[in-house]
Amino acid sequence: MTRCPVIPVLVIQDLSLARPIAQALVAGGLTTLEVTLRTDCAIEAIKEMSKVEGAHVGAGTVLNGDDLARAVDAGSQFIVSPGLTQEVATAAQRHDVPLLPGVANAGDIMRGLDLGLSRFKFFPAMANGGLPALKALAAVFGKVRFCPTGGITEGNAAEWLAHPAVSCVGGSWLTAGNFDADAVESRARQAAALANCA
Ligand code: 3PG
Repeated sequence: MTRCPVIPVLVIQDLSLARPIAQALVAGGLTTLEVTLRTDCAIEAIKEMSKVEGAHVGAGTVLNGDDLARAVDAGSQFIVSPGLTQEVATAAQRHDVPLLPGVANAGDIMRGLDLGLSRFKFFPAMANGGLPALKALAAVFGKVRFCPTGGITEGNAAEWLAHPAVSCVGGSWLTAGNFDADAVESRARQAAALANCA
């Protein structure tokens, strides 16, 4: 979470673009890449992107222990899930892989703390009340750090990152639209220049 200020959330539809997308993002300075398990080629995309020098590739949209095992077998270096379940948390411990589970409220965070976790994806960040909601949660859970995701854009990322409890943000804007390597690299460069705060 502290390696880069922005984690691109990637939905790879065309496997042939996996490597070029990773290369463009890494060239722009974003090296931590989340490949969501939402498409048929996601597992292969993780393998392809992991071959790109400098890329630190993980799996997102991991919903259960089977997803997690497939993602780890493919070389995922970290796991992101939209929510927090005992099954996913236990599987992450068993595979000894870092887990960034989604939380939406205080109860989710407390369950995570019980499981030994203190780093969470605040999801879906904007729909959940945006920065005011994050501020209220951060005030209660002083040692917790967040990666807000869901509705984060190049326009509001800096505002989120300015909060001391926000280590990084996640978002899909880096690769929105038809793939254009120069455009992706340029968006990545702008995002990479944002400051990590925590
Ligand atoms: C996620 O998968 O974490 C979110 O869907 C990304 O949200 P965004 O498309 O609003 O960036």
